[in-house]
Amino acid sequence: MAELAEPINTGTKNAKLLAWIDEMVTLAEPDSVYWCDGSKDEYDRLSALMVEAGTLLPLNPEKRPGCFLARSDPNDVARVENRTFICSRDEADAGPTNNWIDPDEMRETMRGLYTGCMRGRRMYVVPFSMGPLGSHIAHIGVQLTDSPYVAMSMRVMTRMGQAALDVLGDEGEFVPCMHSVGAPLEPGQADVPWPCNDTKYIIQFPEERSIWSYGSGYGGNALLGKKCFSLRIASVMGREEGWLAEHMLILGLESPRGEKTYVAAAFPSACGKTNLAMLIPPEGYEGWTVSTVGDDIAWIKPGDDGRLYAINPEAGYFGVVPGTSMKTNPNAMKMMERDTIFTNVALTDDGDVWWEGKDGATPDHLIDWKGNDWTPDSDVLAAHPNARFTCATSQCPSADPAWDDPNGVPISAFVFGGRLSNTFPLVYEARDWEHGVYMAATMGSEATAAAVDQAAIRRDPMAMLPFCGYNMADYWQHWLTIGSKLANPPKIFRVNWFRKDDAGNFIWPGFGENMRVLEWVVDRVNGHGHAEETPIGMMPSYEDLTWTGLDFSPASFSEIMTVDPLAAMQEADAQKTLFDDFGDRLPAELESQRQDQKARLT
Ligand code: OXD
Ligand code: MN
Repeated sequence: MAELAEPINTGTKNAKLLAWIDEMVTLAEPDSVYWCDGSKDEYDRLSALMVEAGTLLPLNPEKRPGCFLARSDPNDVARVENRTFICSRDEADAGPTNNWIDPDEMRETMRGLYTGCMRGRRMYVVPFSMGPLGSHIAHIGVQLTDSPYVAMSMRVMTRMGQAALDVLGDEGEFVPCMHSVGAPLEPGQADVPWPCNDTKYIIQFPEERSIWSYGSGYGGNALLGKKCFSLRIASVMGREEGWLAEHMLILGLESPRGEKTYVAAAFPSACGKTNLAMLIPPEGYEGWTVSTVGDDIAWIKPGDDGRLYAINPEAGYFGVVPGTSMKTNPNAMKMMERDTIFTNVALTDDGDVWWEGKDGATPDHLIDWKGNDWTPDSDVLAAHPNARFTCATSQCPSADPAWDDPNGVPISAFVFGGRLSNTFPLVYEARDWEHGVYMAATMGSEATAAAVDQAAIRRDPMAMLPFCGYNMADYWQHWLTIGSKLANPPKIFRVNWFRKDDAGNFIWPGFGENMRVLEWVVDRVNGHGHAEETPIGMMPSYEDLTWTGLDFSPASFSEIMTVDPLAAMQEADAQKTLFDDFGDRLPAELESQRQDQKARLT
């Protein structure tokens, strides 16, 4: 049987860390404790253990070298927002958009669930750095987990192991992240490939900056460095310390003149963030380079020069696979050719992976994500719609040279986007920072692709609805405060790739063509782009965008840019419902922005 050596503590004397581990070991009663060093050798031994246990299936090394397929329990396939809680002492500090339970009550519930929860299993101690090791923008976390899949994934997703412990040192602070799949084993009881529990809790304690997760081994529920730490807890840290933790990709755009501009962009889940982060410029953009710093999260701090600097706290991608193809995201396709963990995609007869939307013909036979035979006649999907690839950023062909730079990259623009089939134009620019915060705070997305009226818009302020670790109104205030102190605040834009024509077809081709919009954004921030003032913000004319290589008529442009004043007024009225939820915690600036908007529309 494949074995891990049992390195007990690798030399840390951090008293807080040792005391916490002792406490959790006493509570969870694991059979053994293993400290991860983060080496490739350890990764290989972990994968061998999981292959033996049936959790991982090695893929055909000729087709996908170094790749594995994991199939999760069918009841453990996505983040569980309704089981996610912000347990601040005061309910009002969690705000109306978060689930809340009293922290003392929650701690008692969780202690009950954690009691003996790791019996028959090994506890992995996983030290990790969110952000480049030692960066002044980075922070250390330590996750305790009984899932080797999680320990292995954390090596891909973060800077994990001894190096993170070295940065922590004997006195350093860390975010404690306790995680159990909640499936103890009785002596002699056989394990299952994907242990988990029907009871699930994803708990953030913002005041003590800690995370307790139970019952799930999947994605953001279990890889606690991602949404739990880098967004929910980090947003609280950022507010207290004067920086921003955002649900944003970061990309670099280098013009033929050699001018480099970094843009951070926020979109709700399932709006193609990973595709935008790895965009390949279309025909007509020879001489331009688009590079990727991050695809999901940005930590952003004011620098001494009055600008904002951003790092990607993660070191890997946990991206959605279905829909990925050489058309939608060639860089992601290349990235996943090797050394990737696939979760919940389908398996081909020759040991490769397949998913809906992949290039080429649909195979005649597959094993679907649940492990069943599948043919094109089957009435179920072969891959789960939330199937994922876990892959190191270093494998991204478009990785920006500065993606690992401890100082971060200077951000010149924030782009906010939702999925909206009417009313909202392809792109517009905020009049100033305060107006931009209002535009971002009121953004929303349609729940379904069907034509929808305003009422069906799910408001997702700054794409942070499931990720803000405190009261959203205080978060808006924090944005206003940060901007007011910046000598050179980034310009703020809204985009909408998803506008439809009367027949229900998308008007904008999207994907690589989004470059045309990004070029205008770059022009605007560098002072050589033209815009017209309109009631909702600054907008380009047809001539302000480059059209080489794309057949897109002025009539189509007009269709995608036109804002019906009546619909815009209805939208501004509908925003009141959102603002009213926050009572007197709502920053007055946002309501006056809304009033100004209405006045301009009248
Ligand atoms: C993600 C999400 O997985 O936002 O990144 O849901
Ligand atoms: Mn995300």
